[in-house]
Parts: sequence; C-alpha cells; structure tokens
Amino acid sequence: MFVKAVVYEDIRTVGVRDVPDARLEADSDAVVRVTSSAICGTDLHMYDGRTGAEPGLVLGHEPLGVVEQVGPCVETITPGMRVAIPTHLYCGTCHLCARGLTAACLRARPDGIGAAYGYAGMGPYRGAQAELLRVPWADANCIRLPGQPGDAHEDDFVLLADAFVTGWHATRLADVAAGDTVAVFGAGTIGLLAAYSALLQGARAVYSVDGVDARLDMASELGATPVDFRAGDPVDRIRELRTRAGLPIGEEKLDGVDKVIDAVGFQAHDRTHPDRERPNQVVADAARLVNACGAVAVIGVYPEKDLNPQPGETADGRLTVPWGTFFNKGVSVRFGRTHDRRYTTHLRDLITSGRAHPGAIVTHHGRLDYAAELYRQFDKREDGVIKAVLHP
Ligand SMILES: NC(=O)c1ccc[n+]([C@@H]2O[C@H](COP(=O)([O-])OP(=O)(O)OC[C@H]3O[C@@H](n4cnc5c(N)ncnc54)[C@H](O)[C@@H]3O)[C@@H](O)[C@H]2O)c1
Ligand SMILES: [Zn+2]
Ligand SMILES: [Zn+2]
Repeated sequence: MFVKAVVYEDIRTVGVRDVPDARLEADSDAVVRVTSSAICGTDLHMYDGRTGAEPGLVLGHEPLGVVEQVGPCVETITPGMRVAIPTHLYCGTCHLCARGLTAACLRARPDGIGAAYGYAGMGPYRGAQAELLRVPWADANCIRLPGQPGDAHEDDFVLLADAFVTGWHATRLADVAAGDTVAVFGAGTIGLLAAYSALLQGARAVYSVDGVDARLDMASELGATPVDFRAGDPVDRIRELRTRAGLPIGEEKLDGVDKVIDAVGFQAHDRTHPDRERPNQVVADAARLVNACGAVAVIGVYPEKDLNPQPGETADGRLTVPWGTFFNKGVSVRFGRTHDRRYTTHLRDLITSGRAHPGAIVTHHGRLDYAAELYRQFDKREDGVIKAVLHP
C-alpha cells in the first residue's frame, strides 16, 4: 500500500509522491493519520539546498492528526485520539528526557543527540507532510487534544507541534520576565510566536524586527512594535523608541533591551544589501542592542555544515561573532532546539482555556497536492505567506 507525501527532489523542487505506507515497526509505535501538517522555516533550509537533504526525503515535522493504530506496548494512547506530535521525537526515559530535555534525547538517534521527523541529519524518521506518520514511543510522543479534526482549534493545535512551543522556548532561553523589554529578530512564525509568548508572560515592550510588510503587520496585530530593517538600522531605531518611551534618571545606559531573541538563524539577510545573506547579521545586532547583564536566545538554526557558506561563515558553521561585547556586557547567550515536551501540554491548556490563540498567524491552507506551490510562495515570501498548513 502507498500513501501520498511531500518529497524533496532537488534544490527548490518538491513533489507529491506515493511512498510506502507508514506502519508499526516497534511494539511502542503508533501510526497517526495526519489532518494538518505545517511548512516551517526549517524546511526552507533544506529546500534551498543548504543543509544536505537527500532527494527522496519525505519532509515535514509539524503534524496534527488522529491515531489510527497502536502497537501492543502502547498503554495510554488509543485509536481515534486526536494528537499533536512534537517535532523532536524522544524516548521519554533517558537521562536527558527524564529532565525534560527531550530535544537532546540520548536514544532517538543512534549517531547523535536528538532526532526529528523529515529532517536532514536528524535521524531516519520519515516526515509528516504525508497522509500517515509512524510515531515511535507513542505514549511519550502523542500529545492528547480535545475536539475534532477541522474544528476551531485546528490551526492553534498544529502550531503545538513546533512553532508555538519554539517561540515559547525562546522566551525561556532568554529568561523573559514580567516587565522586561524584548527584541525579536525575525517575524516569521517562530519570531511572531516568540513575541506573542513574551507578551503573554508580561513583557513591557516587545519589538519585532523584519523586512517583510505582511510579517511586520502581523507583529503589530499581535501587540508587538514592528521595526522595519529596510528603513534603517533597527538597533538605532529601537534605542530611539526606548529613549522616547522615557528612561528613568540614572538608567539612561539601559537604552537597549533586556532580552534579545534571534528567530532568523544562518540565512539572515544582510541589512545593507538585502539581496545577500550575512549569517552573523543578527548576532552582531543582538550584541549591540542587548542591555548590560541581559540575555540573548538563539533559536534560529545554525547548521554544522552549510553547503553554500556565505560571507562571515565557514562551511563547518563557524561565524565571526562579537564575543568581547557579550563578555563586557555580562550577557548570557543560550542556544537550542526546542525541548518540546516541557511546554506542549501547558501551551495546549493556554489554547483550550482561551488565553492563547497562536493560530491567528496561519495565513495559507492547501491540499497536499498544492505543496510545491506553497513551498515556492513561502520561500519567495510571496502572497503574504507567513504560515502555510497542508491538509493531506
Ligand atoms: N530551535 C528550534 O527548535 C527551531 C524550531 C523551528 C524553527 N527553527 C528555526 O527558526 C528560524 C525561523 O523559522 P521561521 O519558520 O519563522 O522561518 P521564516 O523563514 O518564515 O522566517 C524568518 C524571518 O527572518 C527574517 N529576516 C531575515 N533576515 C533578517 C534580519 N537580518 N533581521 C531580522 N529579520 C530577518 C525574514 O524576513 C523572515 O521573515 C529558522 O532558522 C528555523 O529553522 C528553530
Ligand atoms: Zn518547524
Ligand atoms: Zn530520551
């Protein structure tokens, strides 16, 4: 038997192909019928031919669906349950999983730390932009959800697989606290939901930096202050806004922000030549903008191998970064993939209680057959695409 799936074929080419059915391979597996599966900025790093995806790789790591089948050792999940599946799959019991550090699971990938679906270099797990998905360690990896497929929470819940938890994780890495001032570089899904998460946690002011109109507008709708890098240096602009907001006497040196989040990663645009990439652009801006003793969270991806390295970066992922500035200011810089399981059920409960509505940032929906066009539009930032969700 075959099912339809989105397959990476070549640089900037994906196709919808028949692939063998997902099936139970271990007694602790489940097979999930996918109802929604989002496209992520991480998929674009592969689509753009930068992070070594092999032709034939089934893409996708942001699924929502209904359990179809479970193995004989699965105890808490049964067919018919509606579930979100976190991007980074994990065993749930190893030394790091037991501490909630699931993105670094010691067992999910034989040749490394942590694993993900449909992701070059992150294990053998087939992607989720497909009709069916095999989910290992189903008791740990299926997040139970109320309601029915296609109900009013479908877009909110699909963002529990990655985007909302990653935005939230960024605020935890940056240690955002009530009253903080925060700048988020990048107003893609991850940056927007990091800004939204910071506001939910009581940040006093949140600035969203990007250079795409639709995304800046969305940042504003979510309650952040948009800062367009095409209009000038965003660091100068935010300092100006902070000064205008009124800095208390004696605190004039704190005219930056307390916390900075990099939600762009290595494919950052060079602000002075927006048609070029400059992988260390955001890190350089963050170092200038962060206040003394503040924090920077790097949630955008920086790969260990870039097949087409850009100025300021080497093929093995080394960047020129202002180490001395961070040291002098006493800033902590933290990195990382999302430890999904730490946040998923808390964020689910914020959604079901009506406190959070992350689905507001979903702009496009399409059948699986429409994937090639949605990838193209998303990559080109055409037609106002911020988040596209496929429905297998
Ligand atoms: N750490 C994790 O677990 C995790 C999970 C999901 C995604 N990610 C990563 O997060 C990043 C963002 O994902 P996304 O889905 O929002 O991607 P996206 O491609 O939709 O958004 C990136 C945004 O950054 C903006 N940008 C580019 N250069 C900039 C600059 N110099 N200053 C400010 N903004 C700039 C772009 O205009 C774009 O809107 C990607 O690198 C993705 O791989 C990490
Ligand atoms: Zn993602
Ligand atoms: Zn583990």
